[in-house]
Amino acid sequence: MLMGGLKRLEYRGYDSAGVAIVDDDGAIETAKRAGKLKVLADELAANPLHAGRTGIGHTRWATHGGPTDRNAHPHLGDEGRLALIHNGIIENFSELKQELEAEGHTFESETDTEVAAVLLGREVRRTGDLREAFRATVGRLEGAFTLLAVHRDAPGLVVGARRNSPLVIGLGEGENFFGSDVAAFVEYTKRAVAIGQDQIVAITADDVVVTDFDGVPVEVEPFEVAWDASAAEKGGWSSFMRKEVSEQPEAVANTIRGRIVEGEVHIPELESFGDDELRGIRRITIVACGTASYAGLVAKYAIEQWARVPVEVELSHEFRYREPVIDDTTLVLSISQSGETMDTLMAVKYAREQGARTISICNTQGATIPRESDAVVYTHAGPEVAVASTKAFVAQITALYLFGLHLARVRGTLSREALTEALTELQEIPAKIETVLGESERVAQLAHWMADTRSVLFLGRHVGFPIALEGALKLKELAYIHAEGFAAGELKHGPIALIEPGQPVFVVVPSPRGSASLHPKVVSNIQEIRARGARVIAIAEAGDAAVLPFADEVIRIPLAAPLFEPLLAVVPLQVFAMELSQAKGLDVDQPRNLAKSVTVE
Ligand code: AGP
Repeated sequence: MLMGGLKRLEYRGYDSAGVAIVDDDGAIETAKRAGKLKVLADELAANPLHAGRTGIGHTRWATHGGPTDRNAHPHLGDEGRLALIHNGIIENFSELKQELEAEGHTFESETDTEVAAVLLGREVRRTGDLREAFRATVGRLEGAFTLLAVHRDAPGLVVGARRNSPLVIGLGEGENFFGSDVAAFVEYTKRAVAIGQDQIVAITADDVVVTDFDGVPVEVEPFEVAWDASAAEKGGWSSFMRKEVSEQPEAVANTIRGRIVEGEVHIPELESFGDDELRGIRRITIVACGTASYAGLVAKYAIEQWARVPVEVELSHEFRYREPVIDDTTLVLSISQSGETMDTLMAVKYAREQGARTISICNTQGATIPRESDAVVYTHAGPEVAVASTKAFVAQITALYLFGLHLARVRGTLSREALTEALTELQEIPAKIETVLGESERVAQLAHWMADTRSVLFLGRHVGFPIALEGALKLKELAYIHAEGFAAGELKHGPIALIEPGQPVFVVVPSPRGSASLHPKVVSNIQEIRARGARVIAIAEAGDAAVLPFADEVIRIPLAAPLFEPLLAVVPLQVFAMELSQAKGLDVDQPRNLAKSVTVE
């Protein structure tokens, strides 16, 4: 059961893993190994632990201490009678370690986690009770942590605590579960409870007790998990990434579903945001990281055009520490697939402290960032397991567009027909993505031809610029080669010096239709780089003949209104990165050095 749960969570971090079992006679055993989960599975096959009905398991993304057997979790305390696992960073671990060493405690590892285990063990000795010991311990810890522990003198009991890191409970029949997200236990139960900030939870097979850090009981409300275990399985696909790229039409359709009623946007989750409140917003600051931030950059163009509200997009980790000017007329819109990205969580908490209103765009029910926000608009992309985000990205843009159109209607900045036109365009996107997916064979061939390329550049303009950035990020994280995205207009201000004969350049070409089209400018950018020997792969709309003389390859996307092209143009770039990664024999679902959810700052 533990290994199955870790398999489902492996995408969150996979440089080492371990388990601890307490059997009914109060014996405790652990096994832990560096490397992917398979290494631990092979170890357990060779040296099985004794059976037990109480246990904890952990798959790690190393922060303090490299990914070695010794640094893997669980870590032991109370002379080996207690095992503990931890997500997060304990920022004051070195002073605690000195205090414990001065008392004669010794340490096996370089981790902050082991300090928590030894501290908890000391408190168990002092209080004789694991729950009491937890309360004493968490009061000494600074930083972000989700801790789980078992003790051989308390078979049948697992105690957990969380501050800033994720923790959910699965409520079964005669069994209960902890998990970093619901994927850990969804095959056993769909009834879950999200644990709030600074809470301690004690679970047995029949009982769940939640208190705050002072031991005061806390009311919790269970929720039903909306997807089942098979959704988190590969379902016959060769990789989660291939599966999730193919699920993009339904990710968009499911995010729209139920939110366009009689030609109007209808987002029930925003009921807490009255129309007056939305009319009072003077500025929107979008905070996100990585791919999510590029979804924000795309939405900036659309929301400003539709709702006439200034929108700035900030990397969460920059926003949080630059003392931004925000007040109660600022809406901070966070975008996070996992809802656990620590950088973004910290930015949201900071924004609230400064009086801003906060809305979260999130793909994971019960996650921490939505719980820390005034309101949440969930994307319904289903579980995204591959570390490289694809279907969540298009779902994020969809949710942001729905929000932008809702805001425009409330503020009266968009005519009825313009609103209807935009909603019609949005509803046609799933079928159009399906059409683009039909080009995947050609893109795969291109990737195989370019398997030995050392650097690829990406150009885009207007809403195509964030797509150039996203295309470059996909290639970096999947194929481990240097890639860079530029605003096409920026080229002659420096980057064009990078162009030399044979340099591959993807160009996201805007539609030639419409008087305001930037198409001619981008075509001249293509000519500028062609003249210097670049190999141009143009992503251009069906029927656009103007690019043909200047592109070595043209990948076609269906016609769409300019603001909607990003949802289509990104697909060939995702496929290209995925196929190049496969061509190089790399792990497309779990690229090196990465984790699906970066829950440390
Ligand atoms: C995207 O492919 C990456 N995995 C990464 O940039 C990711 O988008 C970023 O870490 C944000 O994650 P979140 O959406 O879960 O907050």
